[in-house]
Amino acid sequence: PITRYYELVLSRVNLAPDGFMREILSINSQYPGTMIHANKGDRLHITVRNQLGVPTSMHWHGIQQRGSNWYDGVSGQTQCPIPNGISFEYDFSTGEQQGTYWYHAHTHGQYMEGLRAPLIIHDPNDPYRKDYDEEYVITMSDWYHQSITELLEIRMSPNYGGFNPIPDAGLISGIGRYDCSAAPPNSNCQANNPLAVYKFQSGKRYRLRIMNTSGLTHFIFSIDNHPLKIIEADGEYSQPVTVNKLPVAIGQRYSVIVEANQQVDNYWIRATIDNRCLLTNDSTVNVNSAINYNVTGILRYEGAPITYPTTTEYPDAVRICLGLAPNFLKSLYPRSIPGPATDRIVLNLTMGIDENNVGRAYVNNSTYVVDETHPTIEKLLTNRMTINQLPTQQNIYSYDNLNGVADFYVLNANRAVHPFHMHGHNFYVLGTGPGLVVDESMLNLVNPFPRDTFVLDGNSWSVFRIITDNPGIWSVHCHIDWHIEMGMVAQLVELPSELTKFTVPQSVTNLCAQFSASKKRSL
Ligand code: C2O
Ligand code: CU
Repeated sequence: PITRYYELVLSRVNLAPDGFMREILSINSQYPGTMIHANKGDRLHITVRNQLGVPTSMHWHGIQQRGSNWYDGVSGQTQCPIPNGISFEYDFSTGEQQGTYWYHAHTHGQYMEGLRAPLIIHDPNDPYRKDYDEEYVITMSDWYHQSITELLEIRMSPNYGGFNPIPDAGLISGIGRYDCSAAPPNSNCQANNPLAVYKFQSGKRYRLRIMNTSGLTHFIFSIDNHPLKIIEADGEYSQPVTVNKLPVAIGQRYSVIVEANQQVDNYWIRATIDNRCLLTNDSTVNVNSAINYNVTGILRYEGAPITYPTTTEYPDAVRICLGLAPNFLKSLYPRSIPGPATDRIVLNLTMGIDENNVGRAYVNNSTYVVDETHPTIEKLLTNRMTINQLPTQQNIYSYDNLNGVADFYVLNANRAVHPFHMHGHNFYVLGTGPGLVVDESMLNLVNPFPRDTFVLDGNSWSVFRIITDNPGIWSVHCHIDWHIEMGMVAQLVELPSELTKFTVPQSVTNLCAQFSASKKRSL
């Protein structure tokens, strides 16, 4: 294992991913940002230089940060935000993990404006290595034309009474096509923006690493005439299983193997936006929105003419707004599931309006309020507060059995679906079902699949299981970025007796001093 060094300069640049020019928040002046590669076991040393003009932080989605909780990148929880003009160095081991990940800002909806990119951990002992010749990374994301800061102000204003803003476009690997006739007058919009093109050579087999890095949008991925053999989900190898259409919830990743065994030609790559899901997902259709739900790219065989495909879509149906069924995937390396549980944490998710008529989301009736100046890690490790002294609006749940087993009973008491994400762990999905009463007889204790993001259906229960072996403050939240800002967030303080033995690196402590100083300056 070696240490790999990356430098991420965050700045505002003008870019037109879908043809519509706007100022975006960029990583190294590009969108998506710089892709990070490592081999299993490597360390990543990543310098983030903030030139955005606003504070930020960077989170490595799916990386478990064993022994390095303070580099998890959640402002208000594991660090203070990085002020403008300041650099911060993240330095962590990828440990025992391999597979497909991503990284994104974890501050105020900023990732929806461009601060997101793939992070790939290659496995020198990949059990599927003989089964493919090349690999590509494909991201799917939604895209807004207005500044997220402005949209958030609207979303979180009293009596707004509306729903989540509908994106303007969907992008495949950072490229989309906006209908410029719908753009406001005087905007700089290039019609017929080129589509993303992936080149295949006849006879070769390709590993595609597919991820959904959206703020709101659920995508369904497919390639005409080319079935997808799934081999990995959220960093876990699966037994091979073939689908024609792959639903990918926000935050989820898959590797699939695709064979270039069709006629030399062009084929549509489809990243279809499930608009039924935008509708049920407490959003309303913005009548001014020119969003095209049929986001496409092109799979082009070497030797095929440079034309648009004329192929047709698979007719297969998928579950509305939801991901693959919970027991659809089987681990390639089945392990005996730990149990019985030593701890049970019930998280009841609701949505509503607060006393000021602002739309909020709640975990056990408490909407999360971020404290950026004094993150939980500072309160616990530097100021030596006890769990009971932590403010209630920080939605803290704690359990302290080393190598115990914690079950999360997550009850989604509203009609919206929520892509539910946990930091620090892949959780075993033991079961899910309608209603808010867990049916214990439905729990699967035989080879359940562990992952870090799972979609909760509207008005449903789900049970997740983890081994409590990773001391830290781990965020759990819905990965719809609007719902994070509305407060559908909690913090798991795992193994506080172990965690408080750690000393936070000086640079992390300094960040809080720098952040406080920058706030004073701007007053
Ligand atoms: Cu990908 Cu807490 O996030
Ligand atoms: Cu949600």
